[in-house]
Amino acid sequence: MENQPSTYNDQVVRQFALMTIVWGVVGMAVGVLIAAQLLWPALNFDLPWLSYGRIRPLHTNAVIFAFGGSALFATSYYIVQRTCHVPLFAPRLASFTFWGWQSIILAAAITLPLGITQGKEYAELEWPIALFIAVVWIAYAVVFFGTIIKRRVQHIYVANWFFAAYIITIAVLHIVNNLVIPVGLWKSYPIYSGVVDAMVQWWYGHNAVGFFLTAAFLGMMYYFVPKQAQRPIYSYRLSVVHFWALISIYMWAGPHHLHYTTLPDWAQSLGMVFSLMLLAPSWGGMINGIMTLSGAWHKLRTDPILKFLIVSLSFYGMTTFEGPMMSIKTVNALSHYTDWTVGHVHAGALGWVGFISIGSLYALIPRLWGREQMYSIKAMDLHFWVATIGVVLYIASMWMAGVMQGLMWRAVNEDGTLAYTFIESLNATYPYYAIRLLGGVLYLGGMLIMVWNVWKTIAGAERPVAQPVVTTVSA
Ligand code: HEM
Ligand code: HEM
Repeated sequence: MENQPSTYNDQVVRQFALMTIVWGVVGMAVGVLIAAQLLWPALNFDLPWLSYGRIRPLHTNAVIFAFGGSALFATSYYIVQRTCHVPLFAPRLASFTFWGWQSIILAAAITLPLGITQGKEYAELEWPIALFIAVVWIAYAVVFFGTIIKRRVQHIYVANWFFAAYIITIAVLHIVNNLVIPVGLWKSYPIYSGVVDAMVQWWYGHNAVGFFLTAAFLGMMYYFVPKQAQRPIYSYRLSVVHFWALISIYMWAGPHHLHYTTLPDWAQSLGMVFSLMLLAPSWGGMINGIMTLSGAWHKLRTDPILKFLIVSLSFYGMTTFEGPMMSIKTVNALSHYTDWTVGHVHAGALGWVGFISIGSLYALIPRLWGREQMYSIKAMDLHFWVATIGVVLYIASMWMAGVMQGLMWRAVNEDGTLAYTFIESLNATYPYYAIRLLGGVLYLGGMLIMVWNVWKTIAGAERPVAQPVVTTVSA
């Protein structure tokens, strides 16, 4: 096309890809620190800004929004250009989303340790930052949808559907959950009160899991799994059914975070039933991804990228089987407040989100810097095994700790008094906290191997190669 630049805009993709790795290391290092603090509380050094309550949200914000967010910006910008056969719409605005997103992360890294927070999980950042998030996000939507609109292929590839749903939904969730009345520069109160506030918060919280940590990463999966396997997606029809079923069911499952609270009982049951239904589309998506490899299973032996991608789908399947089980009220009576929840979270976070991002980045980085492949395939393989052992140690220890805590808290003597004090259950948990810490150190160690490998790969490249826009139009 005459008036269009002839190369894809990969500058912003490269920037986000690198920051994904940087924030991954930082966020996971903070994770390791809080895991160590649970074993040795003295590790807060009596400094308020190093206290557990302040750096735990620093960990969650860094891993979800800085690491996960940067990975999603990088891959969605890369994928939308390749599947629409056009460079990014509004490149300057795309660059603004990069600098804007990084400054939000910086603001989080300063305000959270200072104790400035809304006190809502995953929505901690105070109103001036929250306002800026909305601005950056809308800019992101303009770039993404602008690119879709000017596409040169009629068809919109399914990965883009997932990214589109995530961009729209996160905007709505973020804005509705951040409707607050400021009472100062760094303090605000929600316009909702009591149980309504709790419901809005967990409608947000659950859909942040559903659309940020799930739908968007599925977009990544639908591009990189077929690409790496060099096979078409197993069933395109299933991917469309998967998409509509997933996005329409997720919205209603939030109340499973509020079982046995003052939320009306019918709403709790509704959350439970929708969570159980979620099993079907989740497993539909997992099967679609894994089966894409049918006929090419042998590639798993030699390609560490495929190992990351396919094992991530297995963890996705595991997490989305466990989640519906935990949403059953009687199961939740045992699991809630225990480390079982933390095990479930990290099966999803380390196993699914972490692995799919790492695999996709390993596929992306050589392409972005014009290399044939990563510098060391052996180092990728080592990363895979170290990280896999890390996840398994993390989640298995938390499952055991969680079920043990739940059983100890509900155990009663014949006269009806509690069989164990809380401190006894804490003491019994320490060995599991040590195992979890070891798992975390291994997972972080894997990321450091990645840093070295990426460094070597990039250093070997003379300079980034601009990739020409594909001009042959095919569906
Ligand atoms: C080296 C890797 C990691 C370690 C050692 C680690 C450790 C921890 C620890 C100790 C907690 C606090 C648990 C508690 O309060 O009992 C936590 C919470 C959390 N982490 Fe991680 N984490 C790691 C990576 C990640 C990643 C990559 C993600 C997301 C992509 C993530 C998401 C979360 C979330 C959402 C919570 C809050 C869970 C809840 O409230 O139930 N973590 N992590
Ligand atoms: C079918 C899908 C899923 C269902 C039905 C589901 C269900 C649940 C349930 C019942 C809880 C415990 C709520 C509580 O007792 O407080 C929970 C917690 C959580 N799940 Fe899932 N889950 C699913 C998939 C996932 C995935 C794929 C991830 C991550 C990538 C994830 C991340 C989380 C997080 C971060 C929490 C902790 C929230 C908090 O209390 O801070 N879930 N989920």
